[in-house]
Amino acid sequence: MNMSSFIAQASDHAARVDRIFILLVAISGAIILLVLILVTTFAVRYRRGSNARRGRLPGWMQRELEIGWTAATLFVFLFLFWWAASSQLSALAPAPGALEIHVEAKQWMWKAQQPNGIREINELHVPEGKPVRLVMTSQDVIHSMFLPSLRIKQDVLPGRTVDLWFTAKKTGTFALMCAEFCGTEHSRMTGRIVIMPQAEYARWSAAPGQGDDLARLGGDVFRKLGCSGCHGANASVHAPDLSGLFGRIVMLDGGRQVVADEAYISDSILMPARDVAAGYQAIMPSYRGVASEDDLVKLVAYIKSLSSQGARH
Ligand code: CUA
Repeated sequence: MNMSSFIAQASDHAARVDRIFILLVAISGAIILLVLILVTTFAVRYRRGSNARRGRLPGWMQRELEIGWTAATLFVFLFLFWWAASSQLSALAPAPGALEIHVEAKQWMWKAQQPNGIREINELHVPEGKPVRLVMTSQDVIHSMFLPSLRIKQDVLPGRTVDLWFTAKKTGTFALMCAEFCGTEHSRMTGRIVIMPQAEYARWSAAPGQGDDLARLGGDVFRKLGCSGCHGANASVHAPDLSGLFGRIVMLDGGRQVVADEAYISDSILMPARDVAAGYQAIMPSYRGVASEDDLVKLVAYIKSLSSQGARH
């Protein structure tokens, strides 16, 4: 394994994580040093036969000193908690307008699909200095996307869509690996992330002969699987109209609300009975096992393209 992948700071997030890590090491080191000094001092001072004072401690040592160091430790811990938590939280909200790359994990490889349809296996090309959002799912078991040089890691779960985003700030090739034991060849489920200057990435992704637009392919799947029979413009079945759906708040049966994001859309295809839109009957069949993970990615892209928010990219 390439050590430089662990040391290189290839994202803003990496610098933040490293500052926290270094401070934690420094605090731990200081405490170890303090304890060592105290142990040694007391061992020498109170050795058998020494004439050090062994009576009761003065009152301030029993009270003020005790309260003082307990409070000090508490504040240090609260500060560390706040610092680490706020850094993690800020890493959760994706930047608007991020470049979206679909990633599918399976035993034992990483498959990626770029916005323009380019497919990659165990490789991920991204531009430098532009927010990138990985929309990930697994075909089989739990895997974990680990990009050490970006200091990010995210479990990838079967039957669910999870997000991970970053802005790379250093060009080069870095390690990409699976960080969740997922079977015999888990340790070989590795790849590389190639961070390119924006112009170079634009050239690379415009390379000819590389697949089709994801949303257009999704339109084909939409018709092939018969979705258009109910959700199409002139369908006779009473099914929700999907244009403008993406990003909207959907009222559900029973008064709940959800935002129609990628996860909601793919869940609705696989488990239509779970979150039924208010005013509709739960008559849609599940497409689990009918639509492959690939189809799902395309369908979601197609449904997104039906609203202005989804067509933003
Ligand atoms: Cu996939 Cu470990």
